[in-house]
Amino acid sequence: MGQIILGDALTVLPTLPEACVDLVYVDPPFNTGRTQERKRIKTTRDEGAGTRKGFGGAKYVTTPVSSSSYADQFDDYLAFLMPRLEAAVRCLSKTGSLFVHLDFREVHYVKVALDRMLGRSSFMNEIIWAYDYGGRSRSRWSAKHDSILWYARNPKQYTFNYESIDRIPYMAPSLVGPEKAARGKTPTDVWWNTIVPTNGKERTGYATQKPLTIVRRIVRVHSRPGETVLDCFAGSGTTGEAAALEGRNFVLIDKSTEAVSIMKKRLAPYH
Ligand SMILES: C[S@@+](CC[C@H](N)C(=O)[O-])C[C@H]1O[C@@H](n2cnc3c(N)ncnc32)[C@H](O)[C@@H]1O
Repeated sequence: MGQIILGDALTVLPTLPEACVDLVYVDPPFNTGRTQERKRIKTTRDEGAGTRKGFGGAKYVTTPVSSSSYADQFDDYLAFLMPRLEAAVRCLSKTGSLFVHLDFREVHYVKVALDRMLGRSSFMNEIIWAYDYGGRSRSRWSAKHDSILWYARNPKQYTFNYESIDRIPYMAPSLVGPEKAARGKTPTDVWWNTIVPTNGKERTGYATQKPLTIVRRIVRVHSRPGETVLDCFAGSGTTGEAAALEGRNFVLIDKSTEAVSIMKKRLAPYH
């Protein structure tokens, strides 16, 4: 069961019942100072007008089929984000968890603000999602990771389905013996995972779409089947698909009409 709601998180969240969800995962704008935009193109064979050459010298024309964008610049980022996170936490059950996906620009400020809001003891982990894609800087270490802050509403009682954690290969399998090597090990708080493949079928064309594997792991380990997951900066609906694939319900909110139409299309097979 899923709901997709168009609107500003700050307006929509107060209309939801208190403690109505068991997990909140949000991936808000990162305050990159840029407009986040991804354009998609369609390539059609056209021997007359085609300017791009393909296999066997065939000519092709490219036409834009869709683009998605949103402004990602805030003078006072915390003044934007914190009231919305507070409104999301109101919807969270007393044993639920909050996951906030950020990058190096704002994560430290948000960590301090969330410690103040929820109490330092509610902070459970900073998960580093490390990837390796794109260009390399020649003037500093290339930033190739995001940070995901995990807070438990009640640090003494929360969902952590250890048995549902997927296993990853050992770095030195020969040191642990064949049985352990075949089983693999649980990940640490550093998760190596590629970005959404640019040409894969997972790709929706939405700027800043996050990989399903990352969000599915969070949903599987931090909620139970039949429970409800909320994402109030839902974008292309990755959280909804992760929830549906794991047998959870979802509530997705986004203020962009384009995001909502992409989500509706993406999640139609699960309705
Ligand atoms: C980083 S993207 C989310 C991407 C998403 N995790 C995915 O995998 O596709 C952030 C989203 O927040 C939305 N957004 C920004 N401000 C918002 C607000 N005040 N209320 C609701 N959504 C908002 C944007 O429209 C954008 O879709």
